Amino acid sequence: ATLPPFKNEPPTDWTVEANRRSFASALREVRKSMPFQAPLIIDGKKIKTEEIIESRNPNSFSEIVGVASKANGSHAQKAVEAAWKAFPSWGDTPPERRAEILIRAAEEARKKRHFLAALQVLEVGKSWSEADADVCEAIDFLEYYAREMIRLSRPRRMGDVPGEISELFYEPRGVALVVAPWNFPLAISTGMTSAALVTGNTVVYKPSSQSAITGYMMVTLFEKAGLPPGVLNYLPGPGRIIGDHLLRHPLVHMIAFTGSKEVGLHIIAQAAQTPPEAQHVKSVIAEMGGKNAIIIDSDADLDEAVVHVLHSAFGYQGQKCSACSRVIVLEENYDRFVTRLKAAAESIEIGPVEDPRFFMGAVIDEGAQKKIMEYIEHGKKDGKVLVMKTPEKGAEGGYFVPLTIFTDLPPDHRLCQEEIFGPVLVVIKARTFDEALDIANGTAFALTGGVFSRSPQNIEKAKKAFRVGNLYINRGITGAIVNRHPFGGFKLSGIGSKAGGPDYLLQFMVPRNNVENT
Ligand code: SER
Repeated sequence: ATLPPFKNEPPTDWTVEANRRSFASALREVRKSMPFQAPLIIDGKKIKTEEIIESRNPNSFSEIVGVASKANGSHAQKAVEAAWKAFPSWGDTPPERRAEILIRAAEEARKKRHFLAALQVLEVGKSWSEADADVCEAIDFLEYYAREMIRLSRPRRMGDVPGEISELFYEPRGVALVVAPWNFPLAISTGMTSAALVTGNTVVYKPSSQSAITGYMMVTLFEKAGLPPGVLNYLPGPGRIIGDHLLRHPLVHMIAFTGSKEVGLHIIAQAAQTPPEAQHVKSVIAEMGGKNAIIIDSDADLDEAVVHVLHSAFGYQGQKCSACSRVIVLEENYDRFVTRLKAAAESIEIGPVEDPRFFMGAVIDEGAQKKIMEYIEHGKKDGKVLVMKTPEKGAEGGYFVPLTIFTDLPPDHRLCQEEIFGPVLVVIKARTFDEALDIANGTAFALTGGVFSRSPQNIEKAKKAFRVGNLYINRGITGAIVNRHPFGGFKLSGIGSKAGGPDYLLQFMVPRNNVENT
């Protein structure tokens, strides 16, 4: 049967009381099942290890959300062998049938979407609406890539020379290693994994240790959808042990990674070391960081601008590669904007996000807390603190950092150049729109960017000269929506084509061409 046209999964309407109740009850249900148990899954078999990973609630770190098994080098080896063994039959499964599995996994996710989101509130500290959006995005990836694969599975006739039939078509690469981040624990894992699977590759999936339980839930969605054993193997574990083993493994054909620039560059370097027994060059897709700016023009609507800047900078505590960490304000508007930004930022409530009153919660773990605090200390030394908002009472047991806004830091300062991945924003003054663009472009990243302006001329200029993967005009700069906003950057923000867009699946396949003289 043909699939109906793609439609984005609508986010939960929180104005409906029944929805709020249902989410609160999902949170209770998740709590009741804690600690979850997540064994490794290799070749369809569940394996419990002695060594474990404890996944804790960032807002209340004494609470263990779940316990995942911890893979070692020999598990990694077994997982690759299982994936390789499953490859011939999965790779030859008709694309429509592979697409069906994604559609069924989407149905499974829809059935328990509040449960999957509530788990994220407790496992990675997302607010209710951020967690809900993540689950919607995961469903969107499944539905979108299923349709994309069907589109790409039709061979393309090339040229029109009489007596010649030339056809371009695609086939899977082999074993894909998927290395996923914790900040969009279901969406990004599902995006990379479903793309690899639907194109006919088999997968070794390494979730982030901080979100190993949500990663496990993703694998169960595919299991329920009828994915054969060995096609998707679940392998949580330390990057330096299993990661490096897999990156150099001759049977790993490609790597799909989303995470930090440091890890991404390491993966690219490792993957390039082609061992003598390898029969292919590994391909790597790496989505890395950002140092994203929003420009506030001299005629910008400040009511809109302030709200969207705050949302883009502090939503999920700024722990998004797409987050705004620099706001560049034209000098005519600077004082007015800064005054309003300060007042609005000070009204944000910070505390454990299980309570939906709180917009901002704890950061992911102690390491992140420490790193962000170090940046804040640097900022205090070299610039001026505009806002430093600390959490409410009740936040003692979590990894909280203050919501912080600095002014008076030069554009080449560390805080204006390095990705902090936390709730830290710098306001920078610019004399002209051109200067604002230069500052915006003046980092090693090129992921997202934004402009608030009423000037058609400046908007046109920005469309051309603000060189980022995703530019957003008169709106926030996070929360790209599958199909509507194909997402991804360039420079040190990554290599590979945009997730949730029409070119993404091509990266998971090799193109072939057959020519027949008739
Ligand atoms: N896709 C996410 C966003 O747009 C980031 O990974 O916010």
